[in-house]
Amino acid sequence: MSQKTSNEMWGGRFASGPAAVMEEINASIDFDKRLYAEDIDGSKAHAAMLAEQGIISAEDARTLQDGLETVRAEIAEGRFAFSRQREDIHMNIEARLAELVGPAAGRLHTARSRNDQVALDFRLHVKKALQALDGALVDFMTALVDKAEAHADTVMPGFTHLQVAQPVTFGHHCLAYVEMAARDLLRCRDALERLDESPLGAAALAGTGFPIDRHMTAQALGFREPTRNSLDSVSDRDFALEFLSVAAICATHLSRLAEEIVIWSTPQFGFVRLSDAFSTGSSIMPQKRNPDAAELVRAKPGRINGALISLLTVMKGLPLTYSKDMQEDKEQVFDAIDSLFLALAAATGMVRDLTPNVDAMRKAAGHGYSTATDLADFLVRELGMPFREAHHVTGRAVALAEERGVGLEDLPLETLRSLEPRITDAVYGVLGVDASVASRKSFGGTAPENVRRQVGYWRDRLARESGSGRG
Ligand code: ARG
Repeated sequence: MSQKTSNEMWGGRFASGPAAVMEEINASIDFDKRLYAEDIDGSKAHAAMLAEQGIISAEDARTLQDGLETVRAEIAEGRFAFSRQREDIHMNIEARLAELVGPAAGRLHTARSRNDQVALDFRLHVKKALQALDGALVDFMTALVDKAEAHADTVMPGFTHLQVAQPVTFGHHCLAYVEMAARDLLRCRDALERLDESPLGAAALAGTGFPIDRHMTAQALGFREPTRNSLDSVSDRDFALEFLSVAAICATHLSRLAEEIVIWSTPQFGFVRLSDAFSTGSSIMPQKRNPDAAELVRAKPGRINGALISLLTVMKGLPLTYSKDMQEDKEQVFDAIDSLFLALAAATGMVRDLTPNVDAMRKAAGHGYSTATDLADFLVRELGMPFREAHHVTGRAVALAEERGVGLEDLPLETLRSLEPRITDAVYGVLGVDASVASRKSFGGTAPENVRRQVGYWRDRLARESGSGRG
């Protein structure tokens, strides 16, 4: 194909031909400027180490450090002119540094490559996200534990298949989400453990002949130690994949809570009232209170799971070491970070603000023969009946109650006795929802006294958690 004019080749979008397309596909500055602080921190640590090792002069190091702080201020204050010709954040900063401090700027990139530089910047960024996630999870858990304590005795229906199963306490339900968040927290800390190695000094891929001190830069940048293999150092994006896995699982938990809030806040359920702060009206139907925040939290895994699959796909099959494909690692991670923190903040706020409708929950808990298992257990306990037989007798009692359109507790004693003559009126003590939940004292069960004990457990653990892990 003959390449006459740019417009013929690429259409009107690219005014100046192949060079414009190259710049458009190659430049990452529009998104990797988000890494500017990490880039400057890394460069300052590198310059200090180069001087310490006698690779550059102490004076040059000082000049570089001061210049880098000037650049930081320019960017922070929105005075920095980002340039696509300078491709990415690394070259934008270095070029500006040269304008500011002159030839000394040319010494900064000694014994370093953009390959270890970007691996470092991105790692530092993900590390900060994981550290902040730790705190956000503790806040979320605290909001749930507070609700659980306030509602240790509040009875609601427990569901399986979204069909009423057995009565449970709302406090116990809240603590189920605390368990999920606690696993998220452990996953987060576990990912931090593996991430905590500095790739700086791996250089392009093979290390360097300069007598650098990678332990010094690792320590200065807050890493436990330097990475051990230069090839792996510039190729590895596991830390980002692990962050995305942690984020995807956490967002999945949040979406389940969000879905429950959506269901609970429908007029049909009426289990909770969401605060005005987390509800929106309808532009046409004046009566509506829509749980928009919950719906958006429910939707966030769409983006976050997408980011995980996207990065797995980018990394899959890449030969060692760095390939430009890896520039596609950042946008999705940035979006996942923002989405996750927003979802967590909204979920925490909704939990704090939501008011359970205790009466509606209790009423619903009694529907659907939710205490049928309690009747069967009574027959086993009091009459020594094998459970399978008790299950059968109870099934017939439910059928009778259903026929008459009443609850189990409304069946007269004679009716129950027609099914099993040994039943006494003590049976009415187990057919109520309060008796049902109070009886479920097995470890991990829903009884109010268990909930209060677990609240105590989580208060202790959270007091310890908020001390550790937040580096
Ligand atoms: N902007 C690049 C990225 O994000 C930086 C590394 C470029 N390295 C290279 N050898 N071209 O991946």
